This record gives sequence, C-alpha cells and structure tokens, in this order.
Amino acid sequence: MDVPLALPFATLVVVLLLSSGPIAAEVDATAVLGEAVLTLDAGNFSEVVAKHEFIVVEFYAPWCGHCKELAPEYEKAASMLRKRDPPVVLAKVDAYDESNKELKDKYKVHGYPAIKIIRKGGSDVSAYGGPRDAEGIVEYLTRQVGPASLEIRSAVDASRSIGDKGVVLVGVFPEFAGIQYENFMAVANKMRTDYDFFHTSDASILPRGDLTVKGPLLRLFKPFDELFVDSQDFDDDAIKKFIEVSGFPTVVTFDADPTNHKFIERYYSTPSAKAMLFLRFSDDRVETFKSQMHEAARQLSGNNISFLIGDVSTADRAFEVVTLTSFSSFLLRIPRTNPLISIHAKLFSISGSKKVMFPSSSC
Ligand SMILES: *[C@@H]1O[C@H](CO)[C@@H](O)[C@H](O)[C@H]1NC(C)=O
Ligand SMILES: *[C@@H]1O[C@H](CO)[C@@H](O)[C@H](O)[C@H]1NC(C)=O
Repeated sequence: MDVPLALPFATLVVVLLLSSGPIAAEVDATAVLGEAVLTLDAGNFSEVVAKHEFIVVEFYAPWCGHCKELAPEYEKAASMLRKRDPPVVLAKVDAYDESNKELKDKYKVHGYPAIKIIRKGGSDVSAYGGPRDAEGIVEYLTRQVGPASLEIRSAVDASRSIGDKGVVLVGVFPEFAGIQYENFMAVANKMRTDYDFFHTSDASILPRGDLTVKGPLLRLFKPFDELFVDSQDFDDDAIKKFIEVSGFPTVVTFDADPTNHKFIERYYSTPSAKAMLFLRFSDDRVETFKSQMHEAARQLSGNNISFLIGDVSTADRAFEVVTLTSFSSFLLRIPRTNPLISIHAKLFSISGSKKVMFPSSSC
C-alpha cells in the first residue's frame, strides 16, 4: 500500500525539479527585458488589486492603435515608478478578451485605453486624468500617491504649482484646521485625479491678484475665461459645484491637446443643446471667430446650450459618434463663402451613442 502512494509523490517532485530551472530562467529573462507592467486577467485581478494600496490598471484592446502607442510609454513609466519608494505598480488587462468581460463591465470600460487608478485594495476607483507620455505619467502618478493637497509656502512654489495648463484649486486658510479646511481636504481627495489641489496660509504669494484676505477662501485658477474665481462657501457640495461650474470653459475647445479631453467628454455627456463651430485653427482669423463664439455663449448663458469650437484638422471623428437631430436656428451667421468654415455653426441636440471620440487619444 505504501508503494503506490509514494510513487506519484516522487513523480511530482521530479516534475517540479525539472521544470523549476527553465521557469526561473524565463522569469529572469522577462525582468531583464523589462516587462515592468503586470499583466492581469480575470483569474488574478482581484487578488493582485487587493494587495495594493495604490495600483494603476490600463484596460486595453490588442487592436487599438492608441493602446499600441501608449504601450512603450506606459512600460517606461512602470519601470521608473517601480523603483520609487514605496513602488507604484502599473498593470494592464486585455479588456477585449471575452474572459475578462466581467472586469470590463465592472470598471465601466467604454473605450480604449481606459486607465483606472485603484486605491485601498479596490474600494476606491477613479479615472486616470493625466498625460500619455512616460515622463508625464510618472509626474502625474507621483502626485496621485502623495497627499491630496500640497502646501504652497513661497511665491516660487506658487508659480511652479499654478501653471497655465489645467484647472488648479488653492485653499487659503489662516490655519490648517477647522471644518472649512477639512471639507476642502475631503473634496481634494475625491477630485484629485481631475484637478490639482494646494493650500496656503499666505494669500499674498498667489499669482494674479494681490489678496489681503486671510481666508478661508477658495481660489480656482484656470487657463481660460476670467483666469481665476474665488468662493467662500466651504460646504462639501458647494465646493464640488464651484469647481465643476467655474472650472468648465464657457466655450470648450476640441483639439489634440489632452488637457481639453475631459471638457470635451463632459460637453458631450451634458444634456443640453449643442452649439459647435469648426474652423481651421491654423488660420489667422480664427481668433475673431473664437471671440464671436465667446460672445454668443455669454449672451446665451442660462439657456441650456453648451458651446464648442473645434479644429477641423483634428475633428474628423467628432461627428462619427453622435447623431445630430432637431436642427434649430442658426446661432452665428457666418457667410457660407468664408473658406475658414468647413462645418456650419448651428444648434444641435445630440442623441445616439454616448461614446466620445477624442481627437487622437482613444479607440
Ligand atoms: C495573471 O494570470 C495570467 C495568466 O492567466 C498571467 O499571464 C499573469 O502573469 C498573471 N499576473 C500576475 C501578476 O500574476
Ligand atoms: C436641456 O436640453 C436637453 C436637450 O436639448 C434636455 O434633455 C434637458 O432636459 C434640458 N435641461 C434643462 C435643465 O432644461
């Protein structure tokens, strides 16, 4: 009786010994070749995610050109970020594979690549809102693993933090305590993937405006419209609303600049009438049309109309994804003979696919 039992056991040991050599060698080889990005699938996703306080997952499709473009940058970023202390882990899932469909649905993947930041072992998921080049990915994610809001201590700090690219929030507090400060921090935590948050006790070091106030005050800096707006309402929902409303351009720009993509996405998903004007941005006269569009938007504010001005050269797919219905009157009267205009400026209501095609960034 002992012999038959012992035999399979012995066989098993031998198999393991035989195969451990080549497997170990293979693992080392991939490490050297630099597969810094973890490959996950339905079988090990939950287990791996549960182990990480912070992990980034790219849902891709093998055929997607934008995913292929991202791949080397993502890999490069992963190899830099894993050397960080503590390391930041980047992973990927083939969301087009049928066996991963449940993951695709759970994480609401509608286009490729869809990059998600998953915190606290899976309980907190947000959309990656950063750039697509290795350096940009590293910079954005380094910011995401740190505190939700950073303190601004000097004018140099301030000018470095408040660039001219995205929407930046600065909370001014006489001291870093109290209900206003706490609400600000809570909102910063929730909205950090889309906006940069800072706080300071010295309003005088902030650019654009010599503040004498001691706060509490919330200042929103933006690279469009009036450039900055203040609010003193520190109720949770009021802060969120202030950021969403004041941080959204009067006229959305449709071009290849990735910082505009989240505005474009919101433009399409907001239930409102749509006014669109597509021009060739390389033309000198474009500024004139832009200011006309701004003026129209200002005059018609409060009428449930969203405004967009687009660059024809990047807009070839803008109309592919939406069905335009209920044409109404002309919003701007622009002579049809004007060579600048290749698509008319009209009021549309949009129905059909909710999927938004960004100019050259997703499949
Ligand atoms: C997850 O499982 C797949 C095979 O099903 C494997 O290729 C991959 O390396 C695994 N990932 C991790 C991090 O273990
Ligand atoms: C705005 O317009 C859209 C359609 O054009 C409509 O579905 C929506 O209910 C309107 N919203 C308001 C607040 O009037």
